[in-house]
Amino acid sequence: MKGDDKRKIVLVGTGMVGMSYAYALLNQNLCDELVLIDIDKKRAEGEAMDLNHGVAFSGGNMEIYAGDYKDCRDADLVVLTAGLPQKEGQSRLDLLKENRKVFRSILEPVLESGFHGIFLVATNPVDIMARIVYEISGFPPGRVVGTGTALDTARLRYLLGEKFIIDPRNMHAYVMGEHGDSEFVPWSQAMMATKPIFDLCSETEGCHFQELLEIEEEVRMAAYKIIEAKRATYYGIGMAMARITKAIFGNEYSVLTVSALLQGEYGEKGVFIGIPCVVNRMGVSRIIELSLSAEEKQRLHLSCETLDQTYQDLA
Ligand SMILES: NC(=O)c1ccc[n+]([C@@H]2O[C@H](COP(=O)([O-])OP(=O)(O)OC[C@H]3O[C@@H](n4cnc5c(N)ncnc54)[C@H](O)[C@@H]3O)[C@@H](O)[C@H]2O)c1
Repeated sequence: MKGDDKRKIVLVGTGMVGMSYAYALLNQNLCDELVLIDIDKKRAEGEAMDLNHGVAFSGGNMEIYAGDYKDCRDADLVVLTAGLPQKEGQSRLDLLKENRKVFRSILEPVLESGFHGIFLVATNPVDIMARIVYEISGFPPGRVVGTGTALDTARLRYLLGEKFIIDPRNMHAYVMGEHGDSEFVPWSQAMMATKPIFDLCSETEGCHFQELLEIEEEVRMAAYKIIEAKRATYYGIGMAMARITKAIFGNEYSVLTVSALLQGEYGEKGVFIGIPCVVNRMGVSRIIELSLSAEEKQRLHLSCETLDQTYQDLA
């Protein structure tokens, strides 16, 4: 049994995303115990062996093994990256129905184990899957965290850093909404250091608003482009998940655009969606309400409606 100070993660789904996350955890020394679970048990065992052979080079002493759902009992985090790939001719809604079944089959034994930590969800469509976890688990909303638009925001800041030749960490801008087609950038809230990006566009910095819209579109299309080139995306999301994990275990109170339940914020209710949240040892400790323009509020509303409609269509 682990000591109380040990950081324990159970990862369900040892595919490309799950293992990119596991690899980032090992390299950044982000937990003490990592349990791998997959319906393909042999694969989970092979992945555990492979990672273990890197522990000596990791600068840490992480305990890694293929386990089962009983191991969730004293886990701090259960991370869900399990899912089925879309079959040819299968609609997104049918895929979603299949993945809901997958999640039911996983959550039942996780909950039976007595797990009382935090769920981190990455399986797509992530906002809907996080809502499903919330509904099935009955956990307080802050303890269900979807990866949301954390990765999209990282992509945006990277591209803005390139555009303005500034460290992306000094570009303060978010992608909000669904992790998908209806996501958007609230440009009224975007800053280079503390200077509004809108001001840069009206000065002599050589920035036209049209270029910002092109960057926004590039972010929205990034996953499609990567999938076309190499069939799947996984390193970026693995790093985004590692960042969220670090914020949780470090009790950081960091602002990250994860998928969280709206309960009246921005005038919306009942939907999990990518939104700037304060993340600490409790999961999502609060949602930050930005001063969006009327148009941006409307875009958020439309994104909420899209997600809610998909969720209702599942019934
Ligand atoms: N949130 C994001 O930003 C983001 C980014 C990229 C990918 N994703 C999503 O992450 C998910 C995983 O992608 P991937 O590339 O790793 O897929 P993958 O096919 O490589 O891995 C999925 C794994 O889930 C396992 N699995 C399936 N059913 C299971 C069950 N009932 N119990 C336990 N394990 C089960 C499979 O055996 C497989 O190992 C997909 O839904 C993908 O769309 C999300």
